[in-house]
Amino acid sequence: MTITTLVFDAYGTLFDVTGAARLAAASPEGAALADRWPLLAAEWRRKQLEYTWQRAITGGHAPFDQVTAEALDWALEALNLSDPALRARLLALYDELPTFPEVLGVLTNLHRTGYRLAILSNGTPRMLASMTRAAGLEALIPDLLSVESVRVYKPDFRVYALVEPALGAKPAEVLFVSANGWDIAGAARFGFNTAWINRTGQPMDRLPQRPKYTLRDLTEVPKCL
Ligand code: LAC
Repeated sequence: MTITTLVFDAYGTLFDVTGAARLAAASPEGAALADRWPLLAAEWRRKQLEYTWQRAITGGHAPFDQVTAEALDWALEALNLSDPALRARLLALYDELPTFPEVLGVLTNLHRTGYRLAILSNGTPRMLASMTRAAGLEALIPDLLSVESVRVYKPDFRVYALVEPALGAKPAEVLFVSANGWDIAGAARFGFNTAWINRTGQPMDRLPQRPKYTLRDLTEVPKCL
């Protein structure tokens, strides 16, 4: 079947989750982050994902902005960086994360070619709207599908199942693009064509479903179409 629709993961795929800690380190509240922002960013992200999986498995859903703040509190405490002003700054920056450099150009070209573009993300509708607006992507990606409509996190099947009724595309017509290997495995199991964005040369995840395509960054997406 021909691919008609591209569905992108948000965090780590279009938007750089390390951007909040990196930008905060350059602000007056962030002096303590100077050389520790990469570690804070990594621990924050690691805990955030662990918390989503725990909440999905136990059925104890809470929205992603809450989970993100709870993970940040853990990471700040673990690194002895707890400080209300820094916390507030980091969370504000998380709503306006920078995109990776190639994102705007690639999405503009795909949109012009006639593909339907959407985001499917753990983020709340508010977080997704805020980030896409800040990045100037709102006209290119009008469909922001959030797990909040099913109140369970990826890789639960109910999340991937949001795509067909919302976009009118069968799984075989969808290319699902994510930098998260576990998300790719979930999407492949659901039946999407999958493209794993491996920006940093990570090993392939040892999960039953492998990506159909492995790409260095989004500039290679047109090769899959
Ligand atoms: C998302 C996370 C998994 O955007 O990156 O859904």
